[in-house]
Amino acid sequence: MNERPVGWSPPSSAPTDPDRLPALNGSLLFSAGRKASEVTDFLRFLSPPVPAMLEIGFDHGMCLVDRARTFPDTLQVGLEIREARVTRLRPHLPGTAFAWRADARTVLASVVPPGRFSGIYVLFPDPVWVESRRRSHLLFSPAFVALCARALAPDGFLHVVTDVEPYHTWIRSLLTAWTPSPDPPLGTEISRRERVCRRDGLMITRGTWTRPA
Ligand SMILES: C[S@@+](CC[C@H](N)C(=O)[O-])C[C@H]1O[C@@H](n2cnc3c(N)ncnc32)[C@H](O)[C@@H]1O
Repeated sequence: MNERPVGWSPPSSAPTDPDRLPALNGSLLFSAGRKASEVTDFLRFLSPPVPAMLEIGFDHGMCLVDRARTFPDTLQVGLEIREARVTRLRPHLPGTAFAWRADARTVLASVVPPGRFSGIYVLFPDPVWVESRRRSHLLFSPAFVALCARALAPDGFLHVVTDVEPYHTWIRSLLTAWTPSPDPPLGTEISRRERVCRRDGLMITRGTWTRPA
């Protein structure tokens, strides 16, 4: 069975300003050298006028690849902060998918054209069990939710899955202005964390919300 700390609570002061979010692993440096060319590649990938989906924290990328194969008429973008994961996945991606090693919060804040994504998938966001790191590392905050709303097309959705019930409650509390919706097409693959949860009998909470008008 999976051992983990008991109890989880949201950070006492979560970031609210979408333009002043912390960034992980220096990915704020988008204007510098290598990052600038990565931004150009990312925007070039997104330039064809076809629907695009975003997955945040894809880990091994199984769901990203599966979605790209299942929905070949849609662009699939994956953001992941762990460089080794991105490097390993890239050779396996079809031409309709793009993986980038970057903090999703920074990418949403400073690179993504408003309204560009039709959907955002966040499968098992890290609950950041170390409380002192939660304010800077936790993905969901009022600021992050505002960035998702900005990145989504008018009928765009946010799909979130977690096995940390209080984290789900916190996420739901941030989305009260959004409309609960049916789950989007999910492809056939399940993520690594979902596999572990099924094996260990952990309860999973899944939710989908449509962006406020
Ligand atoms: C708990 S794991 C879940 C991985 C996978 N989605 C799954 O369901 O198995 C969370 C993932 O999100 C990534 N991550 C955490 N914060 C991130 C951020 N700000 N931007 C992009 N990826 C992030 C982590 O590196 C990790 O791979």
